[in-house]
Amino acid sequence: MESTRTRLIALLEEQADDYISGQQLSDQLHISRTAVWKHMKELEKDGYEIEAVSRKGYRIVSSPDKVSLNTLQWGLKTEWVGKQLIHHRQIDSTQRMGHELAKQHYPHGTVIIADEQLEGKGRMERNWYSPQGEGIWMSFLLRPELPPVHAPQLTLLAAAAVAEVLAETCQVTPQIKWPNDVLIDHKKMAGILTEMQAEHDHIQYVVLGMGINMNQPADSLAEDIHYKATSLLIETGETWSLQFVTQALLEKFEQLYDLYMREGFPPIKSKWEAYGYRIGERVSISTMQEKWEGKLLNIEPDGALNAEGPDGEEKKLYSAEIHWGKGGYYA
Ligand code: BTN
Repeated sequence: MESTRTRLIALLEEQADDYISGQQLSDQLHISRTAVWKHMKELEKDGYEIEAVSRKGYRIVSSPDKVSLNTLQWGLKTEWVGKQLIHHRQIDSTQRMGHELAKQHYPHGTVIIADEQLEGKGRMERNWYSPQGEGIWMSFLLRPELPPVHAPQLTLLAAAAVAEVLAETCQVTPQIKWPNDVLIDHKKMAGILTEMQAEHDHIQYVVLGMGINMNQPADSLAEDIHYKATSLLIETGETWSLQFVTQALLEKFEQLYDLYMREGFPPIKSKWEAYGYRIGERVSISTMQEKWEGKLLNIEPDGALNAEGPDGEEKKLYSAEIHWGKGGYYA
């Protein structure tokens, strides 16, 4: 039922400005005209506004503002991202499911999205609080033809995509804390988790997760992160359409990914740098081995962070945590 409905929506969408006759739909979907009519009634129950004109056919006038497989695919202008889309009301983690689907040979560009995650995963084994309907919790399954050392560049690409969508679509001024925390007004509102399965010289697959705090009121943010986290609602005072922002993200991600595949990392690096946070400032840096104070210098052509090392030398970092003084993030 679901797949006929999805194909029906796709057909209506192909000629969104025109009517499509019941007969045409019935022929293309291999179902009776009565079945087409029943599907239309179901779509109306789902919140779609459908115009039916005798001797002309059907046309979707508007789709409901809620996240579902159909509403996300309605009007989505991508070639390959989200063509295979999995939506769950509740799931343990879209990231975990991404790995499962990778092993089941789901294609490059598959997107898994959930309204709520019960065991959302953050970086460094942290939890990612993902309450029902208040954020965008999604993972991309990617099969890039790249050597594993390039995988961190995908993280920076994703952070740049999130920042660009927030700046262009949501009228806020985001910044990116290396490598992948998206901040507004010094507080974190989105994070990216990149996990990879690789063999010596090639990536088998990447599951890239995005968690974006959208419509969480201040009292809904997890208590332990309250002072250092924020949401788009808190920053703008507006409730945002998850469907609209998700579509914008899928489109932007595809655009930047295709750019990266065509021209390599330099254009992505420039985009990332346009939002780079605390570059040129002294911060506290910790790696697995040591902790010191140093200046954040720049991003290397391969996506690594270049910072002043413990003895003032230049140090290339692939994995580190950045902290700074009281009142700020990670105080
Ligand atoms: C971070 O620690 O900053 C990364 C957070 C990533 C959270 C997202 S939400 C969707 C996807 N599924 C998960 O379980 N985690 C990622």
